[in-house]
Amino acid sequence: MRFYSSRALDNLIDSSLSHYEINFILLEVLGRTLEDIRIKGISAWEVERIEPYLQMARRYPVEYIFKKAFFRNLVLYVDERVLIPRNETEQLVDIALHLIQERTPDRILEVGTGSGAIAISIASESGKKVFASDVSPDAIEVASMNVRSHKTQGRVLLFVGDGLKAVDGEWDLIIWNHPYVLPQEYEDLPPKVKVEPAVALISTPDALVDFLREGMKMLSRKGVILLESAPRFIERIKKSFPDIRVVKDLYGVERFVLLERR
Ligand SMILES: C[S@@+](CC[C@H](N)C(=O)[O-])C[C@H]1O[C@@H](n2cnc3c(N)ncnc32)[C@H](O)[C@@H]1O
Repeated sequence: MRFYSSRALDNLIDSSLSHYEINFILLEVLGRTLEDIRIKGISAWEVERIEPYLQMARRYPVEYIFKKAFFRNLVLYVDERVLIPRNETEQLVDIALHLIQERTPDRILEVGTGSGAIAISIASESGKKVFASDVSPDAIEVASMNVRSHKTQGRVLLFVGDGLKAVDGEWDLIIWNHPYVLPQEYEDLPPKVKVEPAVALISTPDALVDFLREGMKMLSRKGVILLESAPRFIERIKKSFPDIRVVKDLYGVERFVLLERR
């Protein structure tokens, strides 16, 4: 029997968790939303069931607790071996799909695929073949689980590789959601973010510019490099490549960079 427990509800709302995290837990454990609980109440038994998860989620990402992340129309397996795909990156896929429609690239490469979120989305939404690498063999293991579960084995071709060292030939589209936390910023990140792999978070603007110099040499005549980045990195890129195009994210922050072969 359900009864309305305002104290239990307050406990949920008062916690340090976001609305998204609370709903994630409620849906996974009880199959209910916070809105539904506000209207219909919550039983003591239900509170007992969700409490350990709420506690855990204060120091650990909900996506890792339930080994699951939502990205565009995909449900992806994730664990500590990969970065949890972010909302902004859904927009990166929109830009990539637009470029694919406009330029019909044949050779597409995603560097640093992590869970495979970008490559799998592009392959399943455009029907194109995507080569996808990561420097972390652990990440490639996770990505291959996701490639199999989304039945994109023939279209997402995974391999371990550092930057562009493992590839040759010309590419029409090179995509990288690169790590964009500076080494000196890492210590100050919230503990919950530091659970994610450091290799997926930390980089330097100079390392990125080296990657871009290499990438520009590997672009075909109609080729483009598309990055998800951060303002400090973008400032540095502009110094070496003044002709870049920058697109803002939905929060108005300079986030996506397009570089074409000159
Ligand atoms: C910000 S995460 C992006 C993960 C995934 N593409 C996404 O958007 O959710 C950066 C990824 O780049 C990988 N990475 C870092 N340095 C790399 C390098 N030198 N070469 C290839 N991949 C690298 C990391 O392992 C990580 O998976």
